[in-house]
Amino acid sequence: MTTTMEGSAARHERPAADSVFVRACRGLPVPYTPVWFMRQAGRSLPEYRKVRAGIPMLEACRRPDLVAEITLQPVRRHGVDAAILFSDIVVPVAAAGIDLDIEPGTGPVVAEPIRTEADLDRLRRLTPADVSYVDEAVRLLVPEMGAIPLIGFAGAPFTLASYLVEGGPSRTHAKTKAMMWGQPELWHALCGRLAEITLEFLRVQVAAGVSAVQLFDSWAGTLSDADYRRFVLPHSAHVLKGLRGAGVPRIHFGLGTAQLLTAMGEAGADVVGVDWRTPLDTATALVGPDRAVQGNLDPCVLFAPWPVVEREVRRVLAEGRAAPGHVFNLGHGVLPETDPEVLTRVVALVHEASAR
Ligand code: CP3
Repeated sequence: MTTTMEGSAARHERPAADSVFVRACRGLPVPYTPVWFMRQAGRSLPEYRKVRAGIPMLEACRRPDLVAEITLQPVRRHGVDAAILFSDIVVPVAAAGIDLDIEPGTGPVVAEPIRTEADLDRLRRLTPADVSYVDEAVRLLVPEMGAIPLIGFAGAPFTLASYLVEGGPSRTHAKTKAMMWGQPELWHALCGRLAEITLEFLRVQVAAGVSAVQLFDSWAGTLSDADYRRFVLPHSAHVLKGLRGAGVPRIHFGLGTAQLLTAMGEAGADVVGVDWRTPLDTATALVGPDRAVQGNLDPCVLFAPWPVVEREVRRVLAEGRAAPGHVFNLGHGVLPETDPEVLTRVVALVHEASAR
């Protein structure tokens, strides 16, 4: 009884906890399919380019007022059903002592890559005080957003390790895989430490009031199921299972993960994010009947004529009906050249076409 009352009191105070987005994540009945876009806050928006002018990416991530403004821009413009906190997956790693920068057009670049046992010493434990600006940004945003849920996020150990070991973006992840297979003890020590940092970073966001979290393992799709299960899944599971009692849905996303969808669900996700290569009905069969799915319009479809966009949106919605819950999204982030007006039209179409 007590828990029921506490539950409804919490929902009353925090309407976002019973939003259409959170309900879809939990597989509960919804009046329409909720929609948001990965990288919705970013270079596709002129208002973003304006406020970011002359401010380096990492500096922007450390200014709560700016983070709040950028996070809200796509909500105001597109009417999306959730906002994702404006930050980056390397923010907690930088806060834990790694010298890195985010270079425009390239991505994260690490001054001294991690290749040896001794290098690991440069990666400290993360304390909440290291990321107080994230706590502050979330606390600014939550009351302002009211019924619109805020999604917190972090990078998963494999994807973070890839940036740290390679020193920057990589097509093959060759050095990362060489460590994984050749120095498994060092690999597991590195990923263990990253899992702790990620878990702490997500706990800070949950404590500050986010309504859901997404774990980005963007580059895990480069692995076979066997290697994923042996070298990666235990570390991602440590993060996701560490949030089991947190009361917020956990979304687990990767790119090109058709061979990994079952394992990524098993890692402890309530929602599995799927890219455009796997139809959502196929994905649902792989992740099992207890998990919702998120996705999966090809971001390049947004450059096609509107009748094609409309047909593809309707196809994704139809395939998503196979799942107990569907959150509409792209299969990866919004590309910077995307016309924001098309995104606004997609939101309206998803709402209208899925109304029940
Ligand atoms: O709207 C949102 O999705 C929230 C913000 C967000 C950013 N990065 C902002 C950002 C999120 C969720 C991320 C996650 C992220 N960062 C991932 C996982 C998601 C994915 O894309 O697979 C990865 C791999 C990174 C690392 C990273 N940071 C890359 C590859 C890049 C792009 C480099 C470029 O300039 O093209 C970044 C920089 C970055 N992160 C930008 C933004 C808006 C662009 C920087 C800018 O606007 O100057």
